[in-house]
Formats: sequence, structure tokens, C-alpha cells
Amino acid sequence: MEKSIKDISLLLLLTSILSILEISPAIDTISTTQSLKDGDTLVSSGGTFELGFFSPGDSKNRYVGIWYKKVPSITAVWVLNREIPLNSRSGILKFNELGHLVLVNDTNNLLWSSNTSRIARTPILQLLDSGNLVLREANDDNLENFLWQSFDYLSDTYLPGMNFGWNAATGVQNYLSSWTSNEDPAPGDLTFYLDPTGYPQVFIKRGTGAIYRMGPWNGLRFSGTPYVSPTFRHGIFKNKNTTYYREDSNDKSVISRVTLNQSGVVQRWVWVDRTRGWVLYLTVPKDDCDTYSDCGAYGTCYIGNSPACGCLSKFQPKDPEGWNKGDWSNGCIRRTPLNCQEGDVFLKYSSVKLPDAQYSTYNESMTLDESEVKCLQNCSCMAYSQLDISRGSGCLFWFRELIDIRDMSSDGQDIYIRMASSELDSKGKRNILVATLTSSIGVVLLGLSLMLYFWKRSKKKKNEPKGKIGGTHSESHEKDLDLPLFDLYTISKATDNFSINNKLGEGGFGPVYKGMLEEGQDIAVKRLSKTSMQGLDEFKNEVICIAKLQHRNLVRLLGCCIQGEEIMLIYEYMPNKSLDLFLFDQTKSKLLDWEKRFQIVNGIARGIMYLHQDSRLRIIHRDLKASNILLDTDMNPKISDFGIARSFRGNETEDKTNRVVGTYGYMSPEYAVHGRYSIKSDVFSFGVLVLEIVSGKRNSGFSKGDQHLDLLGHVIVVPSIYLRVNIVSKTNLSGEVH
Ligand SMILES: *[C@@H]1O[C@H](CO)[C@@H](O)[C@H](O)[C@H]1NC(C)=O
Ligand SMILES: *[C@@H]1O[C@H](CO)[C@@H](O)[C@H](O)[C@H]1NC(C)=O
Ligand SMILES: *[C@@H]1O[C@H](CO)[C@@H](O)[C@H](O)[C@H]1NC(C)=O
Ligand SMILES: *[C@@H]1O[C@H](CO)[C@@H](O)[C@H](O)[C@H]1NC(C)=O
Ligand SMILES: *[C@@H]1O[C@H](CO)[C@@H](O)[C@H](O)[C@H]1NC(C)=O
Ligand SMILES: *[C@@H]1O[C@H](CO)[C@@H](O)[C@H](O)[C@H]1NC(C)=O
Repeated sequence: MEKSIKDISLLLLLTSILSILEISPAIDTISTTQSLKDGDTLVSSGGTFELGFFSPGDSKNRYVGIWYKKVPSITAVWVLNREIPLNSRSGILKFNELGHLVLVNDTNNLLWSSNTSRIARTPILQLLDSGNLVLREANDDNLENFLWQSFDYLSDTYLPGMNFGWNAATGVQNYLSSWTSNEDPAPGDLTFYLDPTGYPQVFIKRGTGAIYRMGPWNGLRFSGTPYVSPTFRHGIFKNKNTTYYREDSNDKSVISRVTLNQSGVVQRWVWVDRTRGWVLYLTVPKDDCDTYSDCGAYGTCYIGNSPACGCLSKFQPKDPEGWNKGDWSNGCIRRTPLNCQEGDVFLKYSSVKLPDAQYSTYNESMTLDESEVKCLQNCSCMAYSQLDISRGSGCLFWFRELIDIRDMSSDGQDIYIRMASSELDSKGKRNILVATLTSSIGVVLLGLSLMLYFWKRSKKKKNEPKGKIGGTHSESHEKDLDLPLFDLYTISKATDNFSINNKLGEGGFGPVYKGMLEEGQDIAVKRLSKTSMQGLDEFKNEVICIAKLQHRNLVRLLGCCIQGEEIMLIYEYMPNKSLDLFLFDQTKSKLLDWEKRFQIVNGIARGIMYLHQDSRLRIIHRDLKASNILLDTDMNPKISDFGIARSFRGNETEDKTNRVVGTYGYMSPEYAVHGRYSIKSDVFSFGVLVLEIVSGKRNSGFSKGDQHLDLLGHVIVVPSIYLRVNIVSKTNLSGEVH
């Protein structure tokens, strides 16, 4: 009895506390009889957005803006009076007698008006949970029939649900414009907008000059721009009067925005939580090769080269003198001029960002074969390519010089360029083949000799400061990842709720599952086991290494998923799994003929060369072995598992560690014994790998006669001349390995 009385009084106390706290319940709407003063706010029904008066940065001026309710410091996604600030806290937002929304100060001077064309009788203003501030008739049953909406007047921020583009009927162009400064939201000189001429593309411009172009939309993304997370449904929408880009979030709890900053950089941000704040998932332009048309017509930009600009193959600089001085603006011309009357041909150029499509036409139903015929018929048709790579249909035709092309390695597309028919001879092809053959044999021999050299000389070392990737998990690292974020729901669905049937195996830091995304792409999902602390380090290391690298011989990371306790990495799926499963399996090894083996060695060498020399980070993998080489459908090798990789700055080449990690058998002696590693450690492992590939024997499991040597020991002891003879003689055995 006594207890229940206590309970009741406690309940009463709680209710009264709650009613005190809730002085003014959050509202999302104001009507003609109400107004919004400085200090009042509207909160959208789901509690995502808030509208009110604020002062940006250190400014004293007041602006009406919309920001995130849940994000502690004001992140304004939209500003109403961008150009006409209030200089006091006297602003009032209300309706005038015409039903226009107006912003006035306390002397009733008009600062801003919504100027709706239709006169509204009983208008209301509502802040929707999408962040859209809308004006509509209170008694209109159609909730989408807006008299005015803030989504038609963008600031520097794109939010899911906005139509970003062009409406020919109303003449309204919806684009982002940068703020003038952190204190002043007035439009600066940078814009980010969709250009519907030719085929829709998105540009960043300073004034009227383009500084970056997102290539034509290819059904999945803008050509030349990194893959966007399937957390969003997105695409280009076209009808008679309008062309726009739009994305909608599949998961309303994901807070995401795209901004244009005052240096002309477009970034996608995702809010994680109070401790980690806004995390960066995409930045464009991302490197020098993204600068609009930097290499001129028919020039291509390859970030691994120095200088980065080059001519497309079979093209030469138009002005060789200027070109050599670094002036690429004149671009390149065909080394053999076109001759349309005598018949031209189309040559395929792969892995590029498609050129500027302002002067192009398209057909959404044509096949590639039909396109070739169509393009051949018109002498001014310079190139064609597939329009929609997700459906494999449609065609885009170019009618001017091709500009703003760059090399994209695995994210690029194919384009077919009109060339003189004499460029199609087989002699040219043979030359290219011979050149790559000699160079890759060179790489293999270099690898072997370096390995032998290093076996003997493992002295004379100096310690240098290191640019370690793992270990220190500073904010800046996490903020620096241009990595798409997948949501848990998507991944769970793709892997059939992490079904045991989909489990591929157990990786360094947890199980690996196979999955399929809704759009049909196969993926492999590495799931961090909750207990693994070391796993977390390796996970971060892997993300940092591989997210920044792209090469056709490195496994590609599609994104990650961090939600609650779940941490996962999502990769492209490799149907042929890893090299060791072929190499050391009696039946499967027969599938690897010498040509394939050569191609694999060659690919691995290229991948390592990229890691060591050509990539932005100088990376030492430290765990190269057959099981870390994955094979795609065409048996192309891809280096994987960067869990213990290390990066070096600039010209540093060597480091030392107390914690020797990696795989014995592949480790160079000075690393295994003294913990010293450098790019040469990888070359050593590569050498072991080459031996395994040519011999088909495991280094560790190898024994011959009564010698207690592993494969490596065997090779070192046996004179190298024997090795060479042996390899040569084996090449005659049509793929059979003994
Ligand atoms: C109200 O706005 C007018 C016009 O912009 C300005 O001249 C006046 O000083 C403002 N009054 C106050 C109190 O801010
Ligand atoms: C709205 O109309 C008024 C009066 O015609 C004009 O002065 C003002 O610039 C207009 N405002 C906007 C935002 O178009
Ligand atoms: C396109 O605009 C014209 C007027 O400019 C209009 O009559 C027509 O209905 C619009 N079509 C669509 C699909 O919106
Ligand atoms: C814009 O973003 C880039 C990349 O994060 C940054 O380097 C630059 O300083 C930013 N510009 C301004 C004005 O904040
Ligand atoms: C597109 O190509 C198809 C097949 O060649 C053709 O039937 C159709 O008329 C073309 N459409 C346009 C708009 O040119
Ligand atoms: C070639 O295509 C261009 C662009 O579509 C067009 O203007 C021109 O008339 C065409 N020429 C011929 C001969 O069909």
C-alpha cells in the first residue's frame, strides 16, 4: 500500500518535471496568424532539421537558416536571406497580406519575400523532415502542391531528395553556389551545376570557366567519378522539360550532405556520431588529373606519370615544342590523318574517363555494333561509347575534338575513337606485345636477382623515421577517407543475413562472406569479429591503404559499413578465389598453363611496382604470398590483404619493427631476424612467389631427396644456371608441371 502511494507521487513528480522542461513543444509549422522571431525555431516532425535565426562563424549578422537538430554545432544547409543580412536580432519571419512569406526587421522594413506567383488564401509554412521548407495552402489535400519550396533555391549544400538540374518550362536552374566566406553566406564565384547540353554532365565552375567535370552519367555514376554508395538510390532523370540529378536515401537515419566549399571542392559528408563528427566520403576534384581539360584535345592524364599529361596512343603532340615545355593546351593530333572517304576505323581505348560530352548526341536503345555503323556513316562523328554500362545499352556519339580524358584504371570506361584505317595493322599489335614481354621478363629477372642479392647481403642498415599507416588513429585519417558507406541493411540483405552458406572463409580479422548487391554486383564482405582488437588496427590500416590506391592488379575496395558494433569492408568479389588454390591443387594446377602463369607473374609485378613506386603512398605490403593473390574471372591477379602494410613518405626506404608480422617462408631474412623491412622485403616475397608459380610447389612444404631444404633453400643451393635451364625446359611441357 505504502509502496504504491510512493510510486504514484513519483509518477506525478516526473510528469511535472517533464511539463516544465517542455516549455514550448517543438512545432514544424506556422500559419498566417503566427510568426517566427529571432530565438524561436521550427523543428521538422522527425526531429532531423531545425529552422531559425543564426550567425555564421564570427559574424554578428543574423540569417534565417536550416540546420541539423542532432548535430551540436550549427551546420547550415540552407540560408534564406543569403545576400541581405539582418544587423540585429530584430528579424521576424511571417506572412504578408498577399500570402507571401516575408522577412522584416522591427521597423517593418522588407528584407526578403517569397514572391510566390499564385496568391495564397490560407498559406502555411512547414519544415519537412527532408530539410525542405515549403509553403502550401493549409486546406490543400495534395501535400506536394507547393506554392514555394526552399529545395528550388539551393545554397552550398545538396541534400537527398533535391532535384539538382534544369527545368526548361520554368527556366529555373537549380545549382549549388559557394559561400563568400565562413562568415558570409552570400553566393561566391564558384558554382556546381548540371549542364544538360549534349548529354547531362555536372561541372564545377569558377565564374564562367569550368574547373572540374563529372563525366556523362553511365547508369551507375558519373564517368570519371568514384562509385557512390548503394545506400542511395540515385540517377539522372529526363523528360521533355526537365533534366536533373536526384538521390534519395534508403536509410533515413543516415545523415548525408554534399557541399561545395570556397575553394571549389565538392565533398560528401556523413554524420557518424558526436565523437567522430562529420566523416568525408568523397572529394572531387581529387588529384591534378581532375583539372578540366588540362592535357588538351586527345591528351590523357595519368596520375602515376611525370609529367602526368600524355597523348593517347597513336596520337602525337600538336605543338611538340610547347608540349615539352609543359604547355599541353594545344593537345594532340592523330599521327596518321583521317581519311573518311577511304574508310576509317574505330579503335578501342580502355579505362578512361569519358571526354566532355557537351557536343554529343545519344540514343538510349542502340547497341554498340549499331553505334559503330552509325558513327562510321558521318565523317564528323569522332568517337562513340556505351551510354548505360549498368544495362549494357545505349550509345553516346562525340562530334568534336575529345577533351578532358584521364586514365581511370579499374573505374574507367571504353571509348571507340575514329582512326585512319592504316592504324589497324597487325604489325603494330605485335610490336606492343613484344615490348611488354621483354619488359615483364625483365621485371621477373630483376626480382629474382634482387632476391638472391638480398639473401647474401643483409647488413648496413640505418633507421629512419617512418610514415606508419596503422597504429596512430588520428582524426585526420578518418576524415580523409573517400570511401563509400554501405548501410548494414544493404549488406545484410546482400549476404542473406550473413548466412553460413555464403561464408567464403576466415580472414585476418574475421569471417568473409560472399554477397550480391541489388543491382547484381557480386561482393565479398570482410566482417570484423567483435573480439579482435588487433583486427581493428588491421582493419583501419587496410582501409587507409587501399582506399587511396587504385590499380588493376590490386583488389578493389568498394566501401565499408560502420554501424553500431558492426565494422565491415566490402570488396569486389573474385570468382576464382586465391592463387594458392590453383597452384597447389593437383587438378586445378593443370588449368594454369605457362601463358597464364606468366600473365599472373606479370600482373603481380605490376601491382607491386605500383605499390612501391607509382602510387601516391609508397606502400610496402609485407605479406605477399600465394593466398593473398586473388584471381578474377579472367585469372588476372589482384593483390589483397593490406592489414599489415606500411607506407613510406617521399624518399624514405626502410624501417624497423619489434613486432615481426607476416608469413615465414616468404619473409626476407633481415626482416624475419632483425625486423628490418623495406621495398626489398616485398621483392624477396615476390621472388618466393615466382618460384612457387613456376615450380607449382609450396616453398614451405617442399622436400627433395634427403636434403632438408625448403624450395628456396633448394634453389639457392642449386646453381642458378640449373634453375634457368630447368625453367626453360619446363616451358616445353605444355602446361604440365612436375
Ligand atoms: C531595418 O532595415 C532597414 C533597411 O534595411 C534599415 O535601414 C534599418 O536600420 C533596419 N532597422 C533595424 C532596427 O535594424
Ligand atoms: C520580390 O518582389 C519584390 C517586389 O516586386 C522585389 O523587390 C524583390 O526583389 C523580390 N524578391 C525576390 C527574392 O525575388
Ligand atoms: C513542358 O512545358 C510546356 C510549356 O513550356 C507545358 O505545356 C508542358 O505541359 C510541359 N511538359 C511537362 C511534361 O511538364
Ligand atoms: C575546401 O576543401 C579542401 C579539401 O578538403 C580544402 O583543402 C580547402 O582548404 C577547403 N577550402 C576552404 C576555403 O575551406
Ligand atoms: C535509336 O536507335 C534505334 C535502333 O537503331 C532506332 O530504331 C531509333 O529510331 C533511334 N532513336 C533515335 C531517337 O534516333
Ligand atoms: C553528322 O552529324 C552532325 C551532328 O549530329 C549533323 O549535324 C550532320 O548533319 C551529320 N552529317 C551527315 C552527313 O549526316
